[in-house]
Amino acid sequence: MSKITAAITAVNGYVPDYVLDNKELETMIETTDEWITSRTGIKERRILKGEGNGVSVMGAEAVRGLCKKRGISPEEIDLLICCTVTADHIFPATANIITDKVGAINAFGFDLNAACSGFIYGLVTGSKYIESGSHKKVVIVGVDKMSAIVDYTDRATCIIFGDGGGAVLLEPNEEGLGVQDSILRSDGSGAKYLAQKAGGSAYPPTHETIDAREHYARQDGKVVFKFAVTKMADVSAEIMKNNNLSADDIAWLVPHQANKRIIDATARRMGVSDEKVMLNIEKYGNTTSGTIPLCLWEWENQLKKGDNIIIAAFGGGFTWGSIYMKWAYNS
Ligand code: UT7
Repeated sequence: MSKITAAITAVNGYVPDYVLDNKELETMIETTDEWITSRTGIKERRILKGEGNGVSVMGAEAVRGLCKKRGISPEEIDLLICCTVTADHIFPATANIITDKVGAINAFGFDLNAACSGFIYGLVTGSKYIESGSHKKVVIVGVDKMSAIVDYTDRATCIIFGDGGGAVLLEPNEEGLGVQDSILRSDGSGAKYLAQKAGGSAYPPTHETIDAREHYARQDGKVVFKFAVTKMADVSAEIMKNNNLSADDIAWLVPHQANKRIIDATARRMGVSDEKVMLNIEKYGNTTSGTIPLCLWEWENQLKKGDNIIIAAFGGGFTWGSIYMKWAYNS
């Protein structure tokens, strides 16, 4: 019997309607469209409005559309992993809320938090369930409502982030397509440079934590930038070397969208030309766990069966990694 690999067989994305562009940010903080565009490549981002609308609203929309595209009933899903740093609640897991919303009554689910690397951690984790033969239809959701934890008075952070995400379906493949290899890394000593300090068990909410604005994501952008540029490029070069891949062998680089300059540095290090790099940061900003499924969704029509794809991410924690996969279908 041939080896079972885990292949993506459908992709769907979801972004909320409201567009927060750089011009509107100019009215909120001391910044300019020119500064944001030249430093990050971002022109606008989406924001999920509406009281009580948590991240599960976007996750559920993405999964509903995913099932429709693949022509399956949500009841056929046996595992749903929700990668997010902006869960609806501390508990229960947002994965459970999504499975309930979409009617995935036979699935078990859990949340996975690896910040901006969440989706690649989730994709690797979900693949193991497929490769072992224990599960046949695994959904990986990568979605974040960053506007819930962004301080719109902090100009060093708020310009980057937006809301949105997507979902992929993983199924067994016996043609050798799908996930070929992965490298996942983390370094907890980087925790202090990008974090939401309060709200968890170390600093539960108090009047003091709220007054100190500690329930928002904070970053030391320069330090994060330095690590991201090095680590994302290193790990992408490493996975190419481990699999004897040259730049010519690669059809697409799917990078986490945090800053265009980080993406450019990764592509340069891999020797991959710009037209092979998925880039939609100008429209959505950094949606944390959502960036990679949003790219796959937008580029799905251009992906061909057998294409070699490198996915790479870097995020808070620090966490980073890359995945080498062969695309499994023509759409
Ligand atoms: O997904 C993973 C998570 N995050 C990241 O990967 C983010 C990584 N970091 C970055 O993308 C960049 O560091 C930022 C975009 C956050 C900042 O860009 P930078 O080129 O590193 O700017 P900087 O922090 O060094 O600031 C340069 C100057 C400073 O002024 P002075 O001290 O030189 O006078 C800042 O005060 O730009 C100023 N500045 C701004 N000016 C206009 C900072 N934010 C803004 C702003 N508008 N929004």
